Amino acid sequence: MSVASTNFEPHKMIVAEHIQQLKKAINHKKNANPKGVIGFVPTMGALHNGHLQLIEKASQESDIVIVSIFVNPTQFNDPEDLKKYPRTISADIEKLEKSNCDILFLPHEKEVYPDGINSYKIDFSGLDKVMEGKYRDDHFVGVAMVVERLFDIVQPNKAFFGLKDFQQVAIIKHLVRVRQIDVEIVPVNIVRSPEGLALSSRNQLLSKEQKEDALIIYNTLLFGKSLAKEYDNTADILRHMKAYFDKGSLKLEYMEIVDPNTLKPLQSLEPGAHCCIAAYCGEVRLIDNMQIR
Ligand code: PAF
Repeated sequence: MSVASTNFEPHKMIVAEHIQQLKKAINHKKNANPKGVIGFVPTMGALHNGHLQLIEKASQESDIVIVSIFVNPTQFNDPEDLKKYPRTISADIEKLEKSNCDILFLPHEKEVYPDGINSYKIDFSGLDKVMEGKYRDDHFVGVAMVVERLFDIVQPNKAFFGLKDFQQVAIIKHLVRVRQIDVEIVPVNIVRSPEGLALSSRNQLLSKEQKEDALIIYNTLLFGKSLAKEYDNTADILRHMKAYFDKGSLKLEYMEIVDPNTLKPLQSLEPGAHCCIAAYCGEVRLIDNMQIR
């Protein structure tokens, strides 16, 4: 069933399912505000407060806020993960209607990838080879492919990305630089539950007990930050952090302390050093990070 808007009522969010509808909606908004800055928040849906913060930030920094929801198949290296990814479109639309989103773009795969999924080439200068890249083959190729395509369709002036996906933000900044795309990338701070769990669409797949278990990630990062006041050597810090993490029940995939720009592991702490963690809580893969110095 189509959820696209058929006529544009003032102050009502417009829903566009096709590129033509989106262009029409943007023109409609631009007529009222020709110099209006377009702020774009690309998402894969299953919206939570972290997304709503991105939209809030977008509405503070732009005049027309466009949100897209598209579960991008090319960034999933595991078909099971793609199948399990939460899809909550009615609840998402309800949340967006209460937010400052002006236009929701819900594209179909055929319009995002009209020529099918062709081989897409981009050199990430090694940013894709570390951390997530070691465990999720071609994940960032899929992310860059869809983000470049969405930028091409939406033509935003600014685009907003959450820093929970710290490596993704570095990859997208790189994409925009090498492809010379005229869009400002605005990173937005991680939003956490009151207990400290980084908000993620995947948290919907966790039981109440698992959400408590998953706090070990945040607590380990906090522990790392406190160790960074005492130690300079990252091997020492990681050893203590891993021992602490192992007291919990999650399965660690990686824990690294990296330079925030190159994402290369640091031997010795430097200002801006980030600790990044990926771990499994049951079947659910979670990531988080924190600047520790
Ligand atoms: O962060 C996400 O939700 C996705 O990776 C993105 C940027 C929407 C691309 O599909």
